[in-house]
Amino acid sequence: MKRLILFGAPGSGKGTMGDLIQRDFHLVKISTGDILRSAIQQDTAEGRRARAFMESGGLVPDKLVIELVRLRLSRGDLNGGYVMDGYPRTLAQAQALSLIASDSEKAVFIEVMEAEAVARLLSRLTCSDCGAIYNQLTKPPQKDGICDICRGRVVRRTDDTEEAVRQRFRVYAERTMPVIEYYGRKNVLARVDGGGAAAQVYLRIKGLIA
Ligand code: AP5
Repeated sequence: MKRLILFGAPGSGKGTMGDLIQRDFHLVKISTGDILRSAIQQDTAEGRRARAFMESGGLVPDKLVIELVRLRLSRGDLNGGYVMDGYPRTLAQAQALSLIASDSEKAVFIEVMEAEAVARLLSRLTCSDCGAIYNQLTKPPQKDGICDICRGRVVRRTDDTEEAVRQRFRVYAERTMPVIEYYGRKNVLARVDGGGAAAQVYLRIKGLIA
């Protein structure tokens, strides 16, 4: 397998699991959410186009995201394999992905109850510089407001409001569930129980991909 795709609702733990997989399996993590947030921070044309969609909990238009992914996959640093977090999210993105890079692939669907995922998101903290993921309740940074890894500022994401989170769930059910079913029909999809502590979920995922 060259490409591992992580699927799951907002707050299911895709980013957290992607970081652990990247560390232990030496895969490069590609998160479209991180790419878009960095474009917003750098105030690029793509970032300016994406901003309002992201803050309201909607999807950024396919054309823009597909182009960003095409550019990322062409960088030449993925020979050892890569893990995708947050892409593809629509059928058009899935079809584009197989045209851009027809790599051998596996997909893991992290299943979690909506109430648990919402509670996680409403207590999530993120480093505004390196994107490291924290949680006020379960994984606070060692020093309040400061990233353990890069000393950057740890903040709440602007789309982690109750209203935007609910909208992200609606969009996920409508636009991304059909993509997960599509990977199921391709026979490359495994499901994993995403409930419980992050270390336990990671052990389950490791068992599927090792
Ligand atoms: P994105 O950043 O991808 O957001 P998301 O899919 O909503 O997912 P999240 O990052 O909210 O959650 P996650 O599953 O990664 O959970 P995490 O590990 O952080 O996208 C943001 C926006 O960008 C989208 O809404 C859209 O606008 C745009 N976008 C991105 N990609 C796009 C695309 N392909 N097409 C169009 N638009 C796109 O964990 C959450 C919290 O829970 C953390 O605090 C963590 O510490 C904690 N946690 C994790 N696992 C556990 C556990 N097992 N137990 C307890 N706590 C846990």
